[in-house]
Amino acid sequence: MLIPVILSGGAGTRLWPVSRRAYPKPFMTLADGDTLLAKTLQRALAVADAASPVLTVTGRDYYFLTRDAYAAQTSATGRELPFLLEPVGRNTAPALMAAAVLLAERHGADCKLLVLPADHLIRDVEGFADAVARARRLAGEGYLVTFGIRPLHPETGYGYIRRGDAIGSDGFEVEAFVEKPDLATAQAYLDSGRYDWNSGMFCFTAAALIEAAEAVAPELLEGVRGSLAGSAAGSPVELSPEGFAALPDISIDYAVMEKAARRAVVPADFDWNDIGSWKAISGLEAADESGNRVRGNAVLVDASDCYVQADKRLVAVVGVRDLVVVDTGDAVLVSDAGRTQDVRKVVEQLRGDS
Ligand code: GDD
Ligand code: MG
Repeated sequence: MLIPVILSGGAGTRLWPVSRRAYPKPFMTLADGDTLLAKTLQRALAVADAASPVLTVTGRDYYFLTRDAYAAQTSATGRELPFLLEPVGRNTAPALMAAAVLLAERHGADCKLLVLPADHLIRDVEGFADAVARARRLAGEGYLVTFGIRPLHPETGYGYIRRGDAIGSDGFEVEAFVEKPDLATAQAYLDSGRYDWNSGMFCFTAAALIEAAEAVAPELLEGVRGSLAGSAAGSPVELSPEGFAALPDISIDYAVMEKAARRAVVPADFDWNDIGSWKAISGLEAADESGNRVRGNAVLVDASDCYVQADKRLVAVVGVRDLVVVDTGDAVLVSDAGRTQDVRKVVEQLRGDS
C-alpha cells in the first residue's frame, strides 16, 4: 500500500505578510483560488491506491484550518484522511519518524510512505505520477527514495544529491546527499553537472525509514516512539506535549538522508516549484509586455518588471522597476525583486510578532 503523507508545518517567513504564524504558507490561496494544501491533497489523491488513507502531519493549532482547506477538495469524499498532530513543530525528522512508526503499527512495516510537502506546486500530474511509480518500485527494494530536480542555479536553500550507478531504469543510487551547502559548494556542484536538487519529497517503506533511523539517529527515534506511546487509535492522533517538545529540532535531510546507507534518486521529469519566495509566486502569473505581473486591483504607470499583489485595497505604483509590492490590507511589503529571500529578515525583526 502506498500512503501519501502530507507534511505541513513550516512558517514560510519569506512570504510575509501573507504567510503568518496563525495562517502559514500552506493555507495561502493562489491566483486560481486553491490553497497549496488543497493542491497537495489533490496530488496525493492522483497517486494513492483507492483504499489508502492520506495522512497529514501538522501542528495541532492547524487541525481545523487544514480540514477546512481539504473540505474544498470534493475528490477526497469518502477517503480516510487521518491526522497526526504535533504540539510544537520540531521539523521534519521527528514528524516523519512519528508517521512511519504510526503507519507501521496500523498498516504493517511494509507499507510505503510517499512524503509530500504542502508547499510545492506541480502542474504536470502525469509526470509526477510516473516518477511516483518508479519511486514506489525502488522503495519496495528497501531504498530511501528521493526525487531529483535538475538544478538551474546555485541555490543554497536546497539539498543536493550526487547520482551514482543506475538501478535498472527507475533511478540511480545516491552517492552523496548534502543538505544546504554554502554558495561556493553549490556553484561547484552545479558546474560539475553531477548533482540534482532534492525536491523534499520522499518515498520509502515504514520499515526502511525506521531501520535507517535506528542506525543513524537512535535516540531521536526512541524519543519519537515515547511521544507516540499511549496515543489513541483513530484520528486525530496527538503526540505527547512533554515528550515531543523535548525532541531536537532537526530535518529529515540532516538527521537521516545525509547519513543513511541505502538511498536512491528518481529523476523528476516534471515541473516543480517550491513556492519559497515572492519571486517564485510572481513567476506563476503571466507578465504583460512591460514584464509586470499583477494580482488584484492595481494601477501601474511607467513601471516595469514589477509584481504587485493587492489583496484588499487599490495599489498604484509609478515610475519604478524590479519591485515586489504585496498589500494584505494590514501590512505592506515593498521589496527589491532580487532581494525577496531577505523578506524573512522582516519577520526576524518583528521578533516573531507577525
Ligand atoms: N508537520 C510538520 N512539522 N511539517 C513541517 C515541519 C514540522 O515541524 N517543518 C517543516 N515542515 C514541512 C513544511 O511545511 C514543508 O512542507 C516541508 O515540511 C519541508 O520543510 P521546509 O522547511 O520547507 O524545508 P526546506 O525547504 O528548508 O528544505 C527541504 O525542502 C527542499 C526543497 O524545497 C529539504 O528537503 C531540502 O533538501 C529540499 O531541497
Ligand atoms: Mg521548503
